[in-house]
Amino acid sequence: MKENNDIVIENLPKVIFIIPMRGCPVFPGLYTTIEVSDKQDIEIIRHCERFNGFGLVMLKSDGKDNNRLSEDDFYKVGTFVRIKNQINTIYGTKSLFLETVCRFKIDNMLIDRGTVTANVTYIQEDELSRIEDKAFTSALREALDQRADRSVLLENLRFNASNIPEAIRLADYLASSVVPRNKQQELLEEFNGKARIMKVLHVLQEELAVQHMHDEIQGMVSKRIDSRQREYFLREEMRFIRKQLDELGHGADELDSEESEEETEEGSADKPKRPRKPKLIDRLKALNLTGETYETVMDEYQKMASMDTNNPEYSMVRTYLEMVADLPWNSFSPDDFSLEEARKILEQDHYGIKDVKDRVLEFLAVRKLRKDTKGSIICLVGPPGTGKTSIGISIAKALKKKYYRFSVGGMRDEAEIKGHRRTYIGAMPGQIIKGLRVTKTKNPVFVIDEVDKMTVSAQGDPAAALLEVLDPEQNSTFRDHYLDLPFDVSNVLFIVTANTTDTIPRPLLDRMEVIELSGYTSDEKLHIGKKYLVPKSRAKHGLKSTDITYTDKMLHKIAEEYAREAGVRHFEKCLDKIHRKVAMEIVEDEYKRAQMREEGATSAAFSEKEATGELLKRPVRINDEKLIKYLGQPIFHEDEVIRANKVGMSVGLAWTSLGGDVLAIEAQHIPGRGELKITGQLGDVMQESANIAYSYIKSICASHGIDMTWFERNSIHLHVPEGATPKDGPSAGITMATAIYSLVTGQVMAKDMAMTGELSLLGKVMPIGGLKEKVLAARRNMVKTILIPKFNKRDLDKLEANVKEGITFHLVGDMEEVLALAFPSDKYAPGTGKAALPAAPAQTPEEKLAAAVASAVSKVISETMKG
Ligand SMILES: Nc1ncnc2c1ncn2[C@@H]1O[C@H](COP(=O)(O)OP(=O)(O)OP(=O)(O)O)[C@@H](O)[C@H]1O
Ligand SMILES: [Mg+2]
Repeated sequence: MKENNDIVIENLPKVIFIIPMRGCPVFPGLYTTIEVSDKQDIEIIRHCERFNGFGLVMLKSDGKDNNRLSEDDFYKVGTFVRIKNQINTIYGTKSLFLETVCRFKIDNMLIDRGTVTANVTYIQEDELSRIEDKAFTSALREALDQRADRSVLLENLRFNASNIPEAIRLADYLASSVVPRNKQQELLEEFNGKARIMKVLHVLQEELAVQHMHDEIQGMVSKRIDSRQREYFLREEMRFIRKQLDELGHGADELDSEESEEETEEGSADKPKRPRKPKLIDRLKALNLTGETYETVMDEYQKMASMDTNNPEYSMVRTYLEMVADLPWNSFSPDDFSLEEARKILEQDHYGIKDVKDRVLEFLAVRKLRKDTKGSIICLVGPPGTGKTSIGISIAKALKKKYYRFSVGGMRDEAEIKGHRRTYIGAMPGQIIKGLRVTKTKNPVFVIDEVDKMTVSAQGDPAAALLEVLDPEQNSTFRDHYLDLPFDVSNVLFIVTANTTDTIPRPLLDRMEVIELSGYTSDEKLHIGKKYLVPKSRAKHGLKSTDITYTDKMLHKIAEEYAREAGVRHFEKCLDKIHRKVAMEIVEDEYKRAQMREEGATSAAFSEKEATGELLKRPVRINDEKLIKYLGQPIFHEDEVIRANKVGMSVGLAWTSLGGDVLAIEAQHIPGRGELKITGQLGDVMQESANIAYSYIKSICASHGIDMTWFERNSIHLHVPEGATPKDGPSAGITMATAIYSLVTGQVMAKDMAMTGELSLLGKVMPIGGLKEKVLAARRNMVKTILIPKFNKRDLDKLEANVKEGITFHLVGDMEEVLALAFPSDKYAPGTGKAALPAAPAQTPEEKLAAAVASAVSKVISETMKG
């Protein structure tokens, strides 16, 4: 009959003092400290020293005064303890170090003026078998280890527990340290050791489960807090970005116009509210889209709505939808122009070019009747600076339409017209869709410049893409790669400009209505200068009409001597140059005048200085002197005029995309055997022309009585100077033949003459193009006589009188006529007294034979020709 530490229960006193406990019970088998503050208790404790122990019993409720305790206030089970040591504290209390001995049950209790004594029965516990003890011990320790808590307290507890060898004592230890207070008394009252261990285990498991659940909840809560916090930070960030955008002047709607309500509410009341762009979805709905377009757009919107705004794809889809929302799917600007007004605007902006204006007005009249533009593309073709682009813009103004201008010159990527596929990073729509987005109407005017200068490259053929845009059969469902939705561009009025139609792809050219602009004469330039360019340039340089004046003569001189190109762009540049310099002089002059004024100069002094030229006299009158001062020596000199004043030379007229040009052709003979050498960067067609000219002249030698053997001993070198500019076209045919004829016959071509015409192998003169340009170029070159193919009579009749003025035109049908006019006193002309060529060197017998054969052949050829 033993209890803890070999204490014999029978030796323990049956009647003991009881000290009431508050808080938690004390378990047997352990050492513990308690603090006693109650005076009576302290008194009792002194008694107990004699009794060698006392009982500790829990009160059912903590708050009761010791003097008013009754038996019912106590639990019925307590622990008998012995005092091992005691200390009186400075606070007047007693700190007791106790050995807890064993449980007891109160049989009856006596409470006398606060002193509690009880009759008790000590509890004898059954011992566990060795195996049971081992099993329970390890079960308890394991339960303790499972607790995730790694606090110092629990670590100490684990350490202590590992030193308690018996399961029952371990259970009591855990009951006193780990088990919640409200369950401790229950465990104290459990006298069956095994049952108590089970209960402790149960409590530990329960605690563990609670702990798990607690951790889980804790995790969830902290996650929630985390995400709330994250959201908070993102919102703050967004607010900051929005503020920055606002400062830069960009709408915050760009960021997100369907911002949460919280955001809209926050727009503080005192700040004036910026008018918000309607929400994207409302804008999309307002477009009244139908069919495929509607479905695609709504799908994209749903996709975007379901995306996180941080997703990079979000902004891509959003940008796309913003663009869709900005396009004029159904908005037209009204067609309310009047023909009279249109005429006025065209007159206002451009001098002359009457036929061009008439064509434009006709076009507008048709448009007024038909009320649509389907299938109408105007193509303005002409040399640079002749006003093609500016007429395009005037047409837009006359029609009261928005216009969008872009150039396709040098364009080599199809995507510039049709856009990039959206899968590419940084994809953008092409120029067409961009233009519609800018003009915001479905029927604007598009001015597309330089269509003749597109190139095909690995990135595709922009001309083919443009064809798709311009073709009235296809353009009602034009599909930009980026937009990837059919868009009707058939209501757009396209005006394209080009310098030449030669390089415009044929299918594209076929769909356009070509209006040709030719260069201006010096007179026209004078008028354009006077009425448009001078005022424009003057204003551009901050000058007034009282600052500078021109006489007609001077403007004419500028056109003639400084700006002899077809258009007026260079003319404009000359005026700019003059105005720039005059502006500088005026500023300097003002400074001088201000200084003089400060010095108190009289008005007489001013006039005096003006007279001596020290001060600038206003207005600055442009004269010969000033022209040289501002523009330098004239660029075009008398001696630069191209003249055929030597044997082997001829003067032709050419047409290039830069306007008309005068062409000198030179032929020289070199020792050889009748080969033809050609130089001067000539294109294939021109090389062919040269060969034809050579063959032709050879073929007529016999009929002209020219010694064929000349060709046996000589080769001809034909050169077209100014080789830097590549030339091509057949219209120099008769000019080349004339040069060769001049060389072969040793005669000089008529003075002040120029010619143009294609030569056929049998000597026919074929029609040419660009007559006006050529005539204008001839005028600039002081040409007095021009030979043109008779097939071009119609074109000649159409030329304005002032272009033809002072020039004699000869219409020629075949090469004989050309030669008759170019060499009026031709010694070799058929029918005149034939003369031999300059003495030819002696011939070998073989050469003689060859010459005879050649002469016979050429006779046959010329006979056939006549037939
Ligand atoms: N008939 C005209 N009347 C008044 N100004 C003109 C006339 N023709 C051209 N201009 C002026 O000449 C300048 C050049 O014209 P524009 O740019 O339209 O030339 P373009 O034909 O488009 O040349 P390019 O082929 O080089 O593009 C503009 O300032 C334009 O106003
Ligand atoms: Mg232009």
